[in-house]
Amino acid sequence: MLELGCARGANLLPMALDLPESEFVGVDLSEVQVAEARRRAEALGLRNVSFRAESVEALSDDAPFDYVICHGVYSWVPPAARDAILAVCRERMRPGGVAYVSFNALPGWNALRTLRDFLLEHAPPGPAVQRVARARLALSVLDESLRAEPSPWSAWMRDELRELADAEDAYLFHEYLEPVNDALYLRDFVAHCRAHGLAQLSDADLRIAAPSLRPGAGDPLSLAQSVDFTRNRRFRASLLVHAETAADRADPASLARLHLATRAQLPDADASALTGDSAVRFDCDGRAIALSDPWMKCALHSLASEDRRPLSYAAMAASAAARLGLDRRAALVAAAAHAPDVLELLFDGALSLHAGPARYAEAAGLRPIASPIARLQSQRSELVTTLRHTRIELPEQARAVLRLSDGTRDRAAILAGLSRDERSEAQRAGDCEEALDWLASNALLLE
Ligand SMILES: C[S@@+](CC[C@H](N)C(=O)[O-])C[C@H]1O[C@@H](n2cnc3c(N)ncnc32)[C@H](O)[C@@H]1O
Repeated sequence: MLELGCARGANLLPMALDLPESEFVGVDLSEVQVAEARRRAEALGLRNVSFRAESVEALSDDAPFDYVICHGVYSWVPPAARDAILAVCRERMRPGGVAYVSFNALPGWNALRTLRDFLLEHAPPGPAVQRVARARLALSVLDESLRAEPSPWSAWMRDELRELADAEDAYLFHEYLEPVNDALYLRDFVAHCRAHGLAQLSDADLRIAAPSLRPGAGDPLSLAQSVDFTRNRRFRASLLVHAETAADRADPASLARLHLATRAQLPDADASALTGDSAVRFDCDGRAIALSDPWMKCALHSLASEDRRPLSYAAMAASAAARLGLDRRAALVAAAAHAPDVLELLFDGALSLHAGPARYAEAAGLRPIASPIARLQSQRSELVTTLRHTRIELPEQARAVLRLSDGTRDRAAILAGLSRDERSEAQRAGDCEEALDWLASNALLLE
């Protein structure tokens, strides 16, 4: 895998740890960032990832890659670099490979341009820290002025300001103060890709891609562009392939090769409610997913029992068939027949797709080992990367326990390493166990 604009390796390092049999190369223009990425790779003892300080426009020769990733770069660099990104995706990627390129999109950025222009005016060129401080001050003054001018515009803008107030400085700087931020319409991005022999396979987010991927949908590009207008989309992440290998519809049968996971909770329903015809509601991040088809209810129930750990499609189908008492032939027919319905749950955001099973511990062992990358990140009090490849903020107690969980300590040694306070020994031990449970359920402990 090649990543263009990899910065400090926040994306590549966890992947390199998780997939020791794969190789990763990161390039970034910034020598400072690349030096930090190398330091982290060395601290983690990684031999399957390398970092180079190079520009995309002058990349040294490399073997072809299966995957190319370029996140948060394309619409923030001048046209020559944008051309170079797509040329690299075409020339350095094997046929059958997939590239991920994200960009700021129109129409969403039409209105945000107003905010960007305002901030550029109030944070003139100078040291980055000073510009961010000036921008923050300007934002609070703007918020005050908008409060005094109630209108649909000020309500919308104040919502934006609230989100920006919570955003990291790096985000504020990147989106609003960098010299280039040329958002573009999806159709213009796809035309640029075509000129480089690339085609868009899908958006990386299946919920966004759904309208164009459904069997029988009209022209996928014009459909996707129309939806962007209705939703006022401001960001996209496209998956690209060599134009001659493009397929523009999702094939439900391909699910058979993949694993699935859900964030849906186990419903408060007895076995007969699952196997009967009545509707059962699954709570998924505060949203209700109502299902009545018995096979679908049993399938989602089997995934929900896994507490977000991926199950293969076959294992999910086998569990549903067992609960419904289907014989082998009926089980195979049901598994194939329900693939389009499972695809709909993916489009709906109720499921996520995975290449294989989880590689993290279900529960803390006798001598727990926390993810080495999270331990490294926790020293700098950043967000940490989970073994699900998501970032998460650590509660204080979990942070202390995570640091001590390096595989050399049992519970007693971890407790001895934690600072003492007014809590009783029993309470400290209980809190420590709770922190270990939290680390396990958030995919921060190795198997
Ligand atoms: C906003 S950061 C995104 C970093 C990372 N991909 C992420 O998502 O966190 C953009 C990165 O692109 C790098 N960059 C900008 N222009 C580049 C170019 N022409 N060639 C290589 N890297 C470039 C910058 O140095 C910076 O680290």
